[in-house]
Amino acid sequence: MERQSPLRIVAALAVAGLGLALALLLRAPPAAALLALLAGIAGCAVAFAARRERPTLAGVDSRNAEDSRPPIAEVLRAIDDPMLVVRDAHVEAANEAALALLGRHIEGTDVRLAIRHPAAAELLLRAPGADGAPARAELVGLGGGDRLWALSAAPLPDGRRLVRLADLSQARAAEQMRADFVANASHELRTPLATLLGFTETLQDEEAAGDPATRARFLKIMFDEATRMRTLVDDLISLSRIEADRFAAPSDPVDLLRVAQNVRDSLFELAKTRGSEIEIENEARATIVPGERAQLGQLLSNLVTNALNYGRAGAPVRVKLEEAGGGMLRVRVIDQGEGIAPEHIPRLTERFYRVDASRSRSVGGTGLGLAIAKHIALRHRGRLEIVSKQGEGTSVRVYLPHAPGDTA
Ligand SMILES: Nc1ncnc2c1ncn2[C@@H]1O[C@H](COP(=O)(O)OP(=O)(O)OP(=O)(O)O)[C@@H](O)[C@H]1O
Ligand SMILES: [Mg+2]
Repeated sequence: MERQSPLRIVAALAVAGLGLALALLLRAPPAAALLALLAGIAGCAVAFAARRERPTLAGVDSRNAEDSRPPIAEVLRAIDDPMLVVRDAHVEAANEAALALLGRHIEGTDVRLAIRHPAAAELLLRAPGADGAPARAELVGLGGGDRLWALSAAPLPDGRRLVRLADLSQARAAEQMRADFVANASHELRTPLATLLGFTETLQDEEAAGDPATRARFLKIMFDEATRMRTLVDDLISLSRIEADRFAAPSDPVDLLRVAQNVRDSLFELAKTRGSEIEIENEARATIVPGERAQLGQLLSNLVTNALNYGRAGAPVRVKLEEAGGGMLRVRVIDQGEGIAPEHIPRLTERFYRVDASRSRSVGGTGLGLAIAKHIALRHRGRLEIVSKQGEGTSVRVYLPHAPGDTA
């Protein structure tokens, strides 16, 4: 196209010259000849201007593509989700996430080999809908395990398809956890409620309620079950409050040694019934942490209660404060119980997870204590770790940052 433009100018000049020659040949007055020449020159000017003002469409497209639109492969590279460009059922381009998920060999291969899943093959071989809307499918198991992916294939104007895989595994796990939580909480409330209703009914029967000893025994059971329900509801409320505040780290200076001493005093009765002493040892250079005193008390109380309940009766429970390095203070709550089998350890901080549910229930447990402890530690920018050796005992460790400037 560019090469044609000078030709057009030469042609226009030639026409202008021809006009002048004709005018002179026909003996036109000099003024008319001059007019013809001027008209010719104006024609040249218009032709020249037209060349500059009307670039070809292809010229515009290629310049825009070079100057402002990065190639599609580069756009894909900037996206974290696995993405592919598919042309004629073959993978034309794939980003890093897609290569990591589907394999490095997929570029250039048949899309059915790249995404080995029947639902994906069916969707990608089907012609796109006339409305141009992306087609969608859910793929289970791609990339191992029971991972869940949402595949969407959007048609591009040139006939290619842009394929995106969004990982839904975490969202589904969260949904499952929520459903499990509601089911577990309802179950935990239902059991004592059923006991309460049963005994209320029995007490309404005058014959059964007549004997004062039986009545007193029933009332004691009802009281225990109602207390259990209250504890569960209190724990649930406290867990949801800690979770709601999880991004607001508390900052009051709290002396953890004092907190441990208070917990020891408040659990004196339980320790006595178990025949155990609560021994506090402080080896930390400083014991002040930024925190919320009540929550830190709840955290240590949950751990020491567990150590007393599941530790060996008659053996001491030790609470050790020490330096963990990196500006962190470590508290270890150590018992000499039977310990916990390794397969249970990662799940102990899940809500309602119990190694031995009937043993936990027999000591009034609801299975929320460690979940609460973990969330309190996280809210305080710390963490909780469980180390246990079967036959030797368990050590639950909490790491919390020292208060800034606390070097006492
Ligand atoms: N020190 C420990 N030694 C052995 N097992 C433990 C210990 N601490 C916790 N566990 C196990 O972990 C489970 C979960 O503990 P968690 O404190 O969350 O709940 P719980 O004690 O059953 O009830 P609660 O909500 O009243 O604390 C317990 O049921 C118990 O099986
Ligand atoms: Mg507990």
